[in-house]
Amino acid sequence: MVRVYLHDVTKVFGKSVVALDHVELEVKSGEFMVVMGPSGHGKTTLLRVVAGLEEPTDGEVWIGDKLVASARKGVFVPPKDRNVGMVFQNWALYPHMKVFDNIAFPLRIKKMPKQEIERRVKEIAEVLGIAETLDRYPRQLSGGQQQRVAIARALVKEPQVLLMDEPFSNLDARVRVTARAFVKDIQRRLGITTILVTHDPADALTLADRIAVLRRGVVQQVGLPSEVYNRPSNIFVANFIGDINLIEGSVEGGGPGALFDGGDVRIPLSGKLLEALGRRSNVVLGIRPEDIMLSKEELRAGGGFVSVGRGVVEISEFAGGKFNVMVRMGSIELKVVSSSSFGIGDQVNVYFNMDKVKFFDKSTKALIYG
Ligand SMILES: Nc1ncnc2c1ncn2[C@@H]1O[C@H](COP(=O)(O)OP(=O)(O)OP(=O)(O)O)[C@@H](O)[C@H]1O
Ligand SMILES: [Mg+2]
Repeated sequence: MVRVYLHDVTKVFGKSVVALDHVELEVKSGEFMVVMGPSGHGKTTLLRVVAGLEEPTDGEVWIGDKLVASARKGVFVPPKDRNVGMVFQNWALYPHMKVFDNIAFPLRIKKMPKQEIERRVKEIAEVLGIAETLDRYPRQLSGGQQQRVAIARALVKEPQVLLMDEPFSNLDARVRVTARAFVKDIQRRLGITTILVTHDPADALTLADRIAVLRRGVVQQVGLPSEVYNRPSNIFVANFIGDINLIEGSVEGGGPGALFDGGDVRIPLSGKLLEALGRRSNVVLGIRPEDIMLSKEELRAGGGFVSVGRGVVEISEFAGGKFNVMVRMGSIELKVVSSSSFGIGDQVNVYFNMDKVKFFDKSTKALIYG
């Protein structure tokens, strides 16, 4: 297996559309990297640059120890010589070809002998569980099966690198879960270096060895799923990878008695947290819905939880084994994931898990503490 390395890669379309902006990203050999970002922020462009379907405007692309693209050095290895398999955003199966011929297509282009083609297609179809569909047309398959055909076509060349562009976007929620498990399993068994792009945090959190988050073509953070979720580098990442409550406020006082003043939420500050906040005045507190606890009775704070005041329940929805609750504390609305249900209008005590609270700089949006 090989590593894929994008070094300071910039891609500009036309005069001014900067799709990738000084991207630095190393995907280790055999690693499953998930690149996330909103629509139009450069995900497909990144894959196309690795595949050789786009030439970077600046920077270098390496596959293994081979430089495959560099404008400055005048290097550009065409897609067919990169040994990369790509599953496109819309799968793009050939409708007039049977499944067998769809999968065989890349091998026929390579003019591989017929017997070898037959052996390889059957083998990969077996691995992907679509052996019994080889004689059918794509329209005679379910969405999940079509997706497997697209993956089989990418894998049949035995590529060193697998690129997948939103491979689950055409699948309904339930099939998505199975398809994810399937892709993860295949990737693990083949140990193939993989880059998958998606805008869905659930894809990223369940599949990735590591996640890279793109915003307007700029890499915001690269890290383990737990790192990106628990220590997002800025407010954009925090919001993109999951729900988070954000409360703007200021730090009052520096010693004992110091507190975070968010208007209707006030929290005493001490120790490491106070030290990290330093002399900053304007900050944004972030707390995820599952890190807030509600109780009608007063609880003795403990286990990281501190009381931040009282609120009124506005919404409490059953969400299968848990409840999505909306609590109002004066002008502040908090989303809470709770294990117990509440009635609308209930008065509750609100507790924050201070081990999970994050603080961001209000002007730069960067993480200060978390
Ligand atoms: N061939 C092209 N010519 C001009 N602009 C392009 C071209 N391809 C992409 N872009 C622009 O580059 C930016 C990044 O596009 P890209 O397709 O990489 O986004 P994406 O993150 O894959 O979005 P989506 O989630 O919608 O698929 C967008 O502003 C897009 O309009
Ligand atoms: Mg795209």
